[in-house]
Amino acid sequence: MRFLWFNLDCRDSAPGVAIALATLGIFWTCLISIYDLATVHDTFTIASMAAEREQNLENFKKEGHSAFVIGYTGEIGKVLVKELDEVKAFKRVVLVGRRQTNITQKLGAGFEERVVDFDNLDDYKEAFAGCDVGFNTLGTTRAKSGAQGFVKVDHDYVLKTAEIAKASGCKHFLHTSSQGSDKNSSLLYTRTKGQAEESLKVIHFDRLSIFRPGILLCDREESRPSESFFRTVLKPVFYFFPTAISTPTEVVARAMVNNAISPPSENRTELFENKAIHMMAGNLKPKPEDMVKPVKKSAKETDDNQEL
Ligand SMILES: NC(=O)c1ccc[n+]([C@@H]2O[C@H](COP(=O)([O-])OP(=O)(O)OC[C@H]3O[C@@H](n4cnc5c(N)ncnc54)[C@H](OP(=O)(O)O)[C@@H]3O)[C@@H](O)[C@H]2O)c1
Repeated sequence: MRFLWFNLDCRDSAPGVAIALATLGIFWTCLISIYDLATVHDTFTIASMAAEREQNLENFKKEGHSAFVIGYTGEIGKVLVKELDEVKAFKRVVLVGRRQTNITQKLGAGFEERVVDFDNLDDYKEAFAGCDVGFNTLGTTRAKSGAQGFVKVDHDYVLKTAEIAKASGCKHFLHTSSQGSDKNSSLLYTRTKGQAEESLKVIHFDRLSIFRPGILLCDREESRPSESFFRTVLKPVFYFFPTAISTPTEVVARAMVNNAISPPSENRTELFENKAIHMMAGNLKPKPEDMVKPVKKSAKETDDNQEL
């Protein structure tokens, strides 16, 4: 049997398995340590979004904003809508999706549902009219939609929505990406997520907030065997390192709302990694020594991206 650089006889399969497991263990330990030890940049701004939630909410409500949500029938989307219904931050919330549900019957006043054809979104521009904030939690998987279908949903639909929303007056777009997103990645998932981030930056919203959660923790309705497998195997990791590579969907939703109602930062694009998402939701307390108020930047620096 050949394993990595070892040539093993069949009788040696036990050490081979042990080496394989040890290698996997080392790989995961390194990965988790990298994410767990990562510092949250601009801790002050992020922690303030959680700490000042009530005050921000009060001020935000007075300004009378309207929002749309795409992907509201998904796992993050569902809890995001629930959170939006609870906080009542927006005077109007338009839920834009590909199919009719009875969701608005269970929600308070101000929620509307619009069914659109994402392949012909230009015909449905009015769905986004008057919404100055947009939430995106849209997404599919390669297993479900194939490689092309995945790119179409996770990149093309998102980009088209963003373009129409911007033209309709959307100022702040909040986008769900993923941990490890990288436009140059050799993996389709992380590459597509990274490319979607880059495409959104070019639209030049007044404010673009990109969330990069780790593995989502939720009771998923849809069966996804590989996701369930990883969730089971990594349970001890989630327990001992709760902010490293996993995020409950409620935490992502709460962070998105806390970000939406917070005053804009100096950066046009805000990028939130998994730990920052936990902190923004109030799920991870900052160390007192990290609570350093950021220094005001020059106009040039302000236009650049800021990873938080
Ligand atoms: N799964 C993870 O662990 C993980 C980790 C990090 C980031 N993320 C990202 O987080 C985002 C949200 O994830 P999630 O698990 O909450 O998503 P989800 O449960 O799979 O929900 C996806 C949403 O997108 C909609 N959608 C899918 N295909 C569509 C299509 N062809 N046309 C129109 N709408 C379509 C779904 O509508 P229907 O209900 O009509 O199907 C649903 O509202 C995704 O972008 C995902 O990549 C996921």
